[in-house]
Amino acid sequence: MKIAVTGKGGVGKTTLAGTLACILSRDYKVFAIDADPDMNLAGSLGIHTPLTPISKMKDLIKDRTGAEPGSSFGEVLKINPKISDLPESLSINYDPEGRLKLLVMGTVDRGGDGCVCPASVLLKALLRHLILKKDEIILLDMEAGIEHLGRRTAEAVDLMIIVVEPGLKSLETAGRIKKLANDIGVEEVVAVINKVSSNDEEDFVNRKLEQLDLKVLGSIPRDENVIKADMDGFPMVNYPDSPALRAVEKIAENILSNYS
Ligand SMILES: Nc1ncnc2c1ncn2[C@@H]1O[C@H](COP(=O)(O)OP(=O)(O)O)[C@@H](O)[C@H]1O
Ligand SMILES: [Mg+2]
Repeated sequence: MKIAVTGKGGVGKTTLAGTLACILSRDYKVFAIDADPDMNLAGSLGIHTPLTPISKMKDLIKDRTGAEPGSSFGEVLKINPKISDLPESLSINYDPEGRLKLLVMGTVDRGGDGCVCPASVLLKALLRHLILKKDEIILLDMEAGIEHLGRRTAEAVDLMIIVVEPGLKSLETAGRIKKLANDIGVEEVVAVINKVSSNDEEDFVNRKLEQLDLKVLGSIPRDENVIKADMDGFPMVNYPDSPALRAVEKIAENILSNYS
């Protein structure tokens, strides 16, 4: 299964993606891919050493796509670069058994007209052509802009989760993402409500999501454990009493029972 987590900046995409990755890796082999230029998925897993993103691996990019990073305009890229070995060879093992692996893409330029960024070619190839075994999941932490994925990549995404919080801004972004996702052919688009502190807030967001025709996969309370985890530099799974963690566990169950 290939799952993408998206939404407005600051809504909790990385927290959700990182926590889901930890939870799902109990039963699946998970490739967590950080495709947000902000690059903090590693941090949400408790990894704070600097990691070299794939977009900075000049030799690899040149070898696989035929282009120097950053100098892609007008260059002819290999459009089907070999990628099958990348998840294993470039990822960081999060746990000793390697059930959770992390790949950091780095800045994946969206590119203007006719411009194809090599890192973006690699990411798209990973999503499109990586053949997953039955017990493998790709979990992508990405920014709100998804148009650069294009139709053929979007079609490979089995589930797109748009994270929203109580407030019109993230809901407006969600509306835009949903439209884009439909336009480029993502199969399933659902919402997760994060940072909920009251029933009124949840009702408000639910009403808006209904207007957007977005199904709700689950909601996560505003939880000081999330802030504590961020200050401590630990993943959410280190806080077993956290209501937010329990909510994400429920979301993971929902994903597995409805979309796998
Ligand atoms: N459920 C929550 N309760 C409290 N704080 C949260 C919650 N989810 C996320 N946060 C906080 O919100 C901020 C943004 O979260 P993050 O996951 O980095 O968002 P994004 O990846 O969408 O930019 C972080 O400081 C995080 O600790
Ligand atoms: Mg993030």
